[in-house]
Amino acid sequence: MSGPTPRVQAATSRGGDVRVTWDAGVTARFHACWLRDNCPCPDCRHATTGELVLDQLHVPVDVAVVEATVGPDGELDVRWDDGHRGRFCGGWLHAHRYDDPADRTTAPAPSWGAELGAPPRFTFADVVAGGQGLRSLLEAVAAVGLAVVAEGPTARGTVVELADAIGFVLPSNFGATYDVVTLPDARSNAYTALGLVTHTDLPHHAWPPGVQLLHCRENSVTGGESTFVDGRRVVEALRDRAPDALDVLTREPIPYRYVDEGADHRYAGPAIELDGAGDLRIIRYAPNVVAPLQVAFDRLLQVRRAYQALGRAVDDPAHVVRYRLQPGDIIVNDNHRVLHGRDAFDPTSGRRVLEGCYVDRSELDSKRRVLARGAA
Ligand code: OGA
Ligand code: ZN
Ligand code: ZN
Repeated sequence: MSGPTPRVQAATSRGGDVRVTWDAGVTARFHACWLRDNCPCPDCRHATTGELVLDQLHVPVDVAVVEATVGPDGELDVRWDDGHRGRFCGGWLHAHRYDDPADRTTAPAPSWGAELGAPPRFTFADVVAGGQGLRSLLEAVAAVGLAVVAEGPTARGTVVELADAIGFVLPSNFGATYDVVTLPDARSNAYTALGLVTHTDLPHHAWPPGVQLLHCRENSVTGGESTFVDGRRVVEALRDRAPDALDVLTREPIPYRYVDEGADHRYAGPAIELDGAGDLRIIRYAPNVVAPLQVAFDRLLQVRRAYQALGRAVDDPAHVVRYRLQPGDIIVNDNHRVLHGRDAFDPTSGRRVLEGCYVDRSELDSKRRVLARGAA
């Protein structure tokens, strides 16, 4: 939050709740019970761990406030009918108010389509230096779901340097890191020269990795351009043009499977999961690893059609950002939101070597918040 910390200006207790007005003119009610649960005093919340020591089970839900007054620095002083007293910082209360649904919801970042032009660009040296350079990257990933960290080294392991700056490498059945190169006995279409439909990675995992890093070490082939699509824009397009398909996609699990000598990963989840506000939580779309559909006989064609509608929306040129990877580039993308793919390439025309790894989305968000501490 920017600007001065809001101070409580007035407080009126009505027993079951307290109405607070801040100096900015905002007003919100708080339940007496909610205030009692969140009392910041050291008897209720451990001084160093910050965790709750109050036993909320023994706080009566109908606990009442007997007195609510404004402290000298714009705090709210509360006395409850169990005899306990607590003091709340005005800014903390303002930040945690829940009276109006508009107080609670932070609007999702706007979606994008082809007009984005190219992924937001950062440079490797700035980002791995930490601080503001890293923070800018993480803010972009949070807002856009996609970024390129450019001008980095082309050595093996560079992608891990970036992963370590953001959080921790999250291993998968493909290893801690994996090379995307053309292999004679490829066990994934990624390891051929075929085009890859714009997709999300690892939908055959119960919870696919949230952040994908893909480092371009060499790229001298003809073709092989990268594609990126914002799943949020896809959901908006389906909501407009094919709401029935969107409904099916959020309800019917699509089975995904990846098998090789050492792995047999299977997961069936809706291609699109929305949150309570109707915003995208996760998209799982990778037609090359769809297992045979197992849905009720009389719904199969409906599910198949809905999945096709999703594919068409993903491939709509109005939604696709195209980008040619340069050696030293690392793509960072939100694998729960942004889909990625590549055109086919001619493997005899040069070399194309990528190294990839994943990072847990919560680690990225945590690092982003830590870097934002103290910043305006
Ligand atoms: C992948 C992948 C993209 C590329 O390996 O999952 O999407 O450009 N690769 O090769
Ligand atoms: Zn307390
Ligand atoms: Zn992929």
